[in-house]
Amino acid sequence: FPALTQEQKKELSEIAHKKKKKKKKKKNADESVENTEENQKKKKKKKKKKDSSINQSIEKKKKKKKKKNQKDNQGGAPLAGTNKETTIQGLDGLSERCAQYKKDGVDFGKWRAVLRIADQCPSSLAIQENANALARYASICQQNGLVPIVEPEVIPDGDHDLEHCQYVTEKVLAAVYKALNDHHVYLEGTLLKPNMVTAGHACTKKYTPEQVAMATVTALHRTVPAAVPGICFLSGGMSEEDATLNLNAINLCPLPKPWKLSFSYGRALQASALAAWGGKAANKEATQEAFMKRAVANCQAAKGQYIH
Ligand code: 13P
Repeated sequence: FPALTQEQKKELSEIAHKKKKKKKKKKNADESVENTEENQKKKKKKKKKKDSSINQSIEKKKKKKKKKNQKDNQGGAPLAGTNKETTIQGLDGLSERCAQYKKDGVDFGKWRAVLRIADQCPSSLAIQENANALARYASICQQNGLVPIVEPEVIPDGDHDLEHCQYVTEKVLAAVYKALNDHHVYLEGTLLKPNMVTAGHACTKKYTPEQVAMATVTALHRTVPAAVPGICFLSGGMSEEDATLNLNAINLCPLPKPWKLSFSYGRALQASALAAWGGKAANKEATQEAFMKRAVANCQAAKGQYIH
């Protein structure tokens, strides 16, 4: 029972590869906002407030072009009997929503699952449950012609070391790719948005970008099939400079890297721009300059050519 026709596969693969290329040229800022009604309202308010030319030009572009990207997940639901772990929800009616997004010109979906490192966490229940939900979402996206961006994030809260994060990240990614395979997801028509392997924010031991890169690429190399066209990292609360330095080191890492390794940062792309803006329209140019600086730096890092 084939899940997708040859034509459907061709379309998905073309979209996934285009996104990958676009990411090289275009700077993609992402925000960690779940798609709840309340957050959509907040987001709209924030957008209105951000009266900078960045937003004006984004809005203009949006009017000209159809929307290409849709975040759809609806926040975490508690997993009873675990140490405050969650799973993602929003699968009900997702197929109908995806069909509408596609009609509206959207080509990608994005869902984020959150896993935490702590006592008894992530539990195998949380790993399996989130992997399965991400795979169901990915399958539904593909059935409707959307390329799913699969985002299993191991968050950096805690005092765990680099090795611990690598161990957990490998377990999580292995479960995600097993689930994607179980659900007959066509990997060439997907993108992965993972955390980099880093120590927890409260870890006293510090690691170099080269160590982060080696741990990250090792984890990916062990778990992510080469059929996946691109991996775009989230920044997970890293400083802007650390996010750039780590991405650069990842692209220079001597291990085999069959995927394009790029960025889809939220905070690490916007922090200095937001600080420069400070809520004042008069800071428009400084805001643009700050944003461009990070965008250019990360584009260089995505090629392993960042010089700081
Ligand atoms: P950060 O880069 O701020 O982690 O956000 C990226 C994102 O989209 C998380 O869903």
